[in-house]
Amino acid sequence: MPPLNLSGSKRRLVLGSLLVCALISALDAQEQKSALGAKPNVGRSTNKESKPARAKPKIKPTPSAQAQTSLTQVLKKGKFKKVGETLSVQTGDTLELRCRGRPVQWSVPLYLEEDDDGRLRTVQHERYNVLTLVNTTGADTGEYICYPMFCEDQDCRKEYNKAAKVFIFFPDPQELFVPSSNYYEMIELRSNWPTVLPCQVTSPKAKVTLHREFPPAELAVDGTEISFDVKKGFTIHRPRPFHAGVLHCVASLGNLRQSSIKYIIIYVNYPMAPPAPVIQASLSSVSVGENLHVTCTVMGEQDVNVEFSWEYPGQEIGRPLYTRESISRVSGGGARQQSQSVLLVDEVRDVDQGTYTCTAENLQGAKSVSTTVKVLPKAKAKKPRV
Ligand SMILES: *[C@@H]1O[C@H](CO)[C@@H](O)[C@H](O)[C@H]1NC(C)=O
Repeated sequence: MPPLNLSGSKRRLVLGSLLVCALISALDAQEQKSALGAKPNVGRSTNKESKPARAKPKIKPTPSAQAQTSLTQVLKKGKFKKVGETLSVQTGDTLELRCRGRPVQWSVPLYLEEDDDGRLRTVQHERYNVLTLVNTTGADTGEYICYPMFCEDQDCRKEYNKAAKVFIFFPDPQELFVPSSNYYEMIELRSNWPTVLPCQVTSPKAKVTLHREFPPAELAVDGTEISFDVKKGFTIHRPRPFHAGVLHCVASLGNLRQSSIKYIIIYVNYPMAPPAPVIQASLSSVSVGENLHVTCTVMGEQDVNVEFSWEYPGQEIGRPLYTRESISRVSGGGARQQSQSVLLVDEVRDVDQGTYTCTAENLQGAKSVSTTVKVLPKAKAKKPRV
């Protein structure tokens, strides 16, 4: 999931593309009400959640790249079991994992890191580290990773390529979904960008389906357009505008059938590339007293917002910014539109000479273009303009 750290103007760009604003504010009010009786923060399901585990390995392997470290589950009566890709531990039981290495660093589900309630402990031994989690619940479900550390003097770094990980389910007889403190979660859906609905079940045996709220319908999960992964939730592989709306997951196991929180899917028309503005001044040299306008034009995809900002010589002496912005459909094939910002400078003065820069920004990035304008002494009728 890409981080949603949007700058002010990016945020405006996103907001400009919202499809379900009214719905959101209605739900906002609803959540504020229900927050009064909310459970303690189990900050588990924010979309922004960035587990350190997900970070891409940035460090190149050390020359003698050994195999990854090993994870062992310590069972009762001192028995050991090498763990595979997943593991199920009965809720209430104690989880004990042993990871070879010294030192090591663990990565655990986010809410365990945040809510230090004394249930999680790690102890370093001579050759291995032991993670112990007591009084386990379904909320502890998630990925547990052990990173051996490579140390030089006081400097230690994770050896990502040697990490060992296991996804642990804590099947909870009462909670089929990992609990969340939120009533709903907003998910930004970008055109052509796979998106995950993180409805995480506590048991790998639960049968999970995906549903739309209005009109109520179950969505087909064909494995291509939409797929399900018991360690992750549903993935919409090629988001389209019709995916927008409110979705939720339903899990069933035995006699139990439960709904997840609601996912408010907001479709954002995401541009393919940053804008490519073109700048042009009405005159490259202008006489004092004349009017000047500088035009910045972006040809782009339809319904993709472009924000313009300007830098101009008159700024320094406090000349106010006057612009006229417009959007127009481009006739002909392809859904294109022209976005334009025109900077208007009335009665040019000497201080208006210099570089005019237009920056155009969309959700993919920004690009600036400049042009220079020369200011000539007051026009004399005979003098030809350049
Ligand atoms: C675990 O649960 C037991 C029994 O409810 C309780 O006495 C103990 O304090 C709990 N331990 C921790 C670390 O929360």
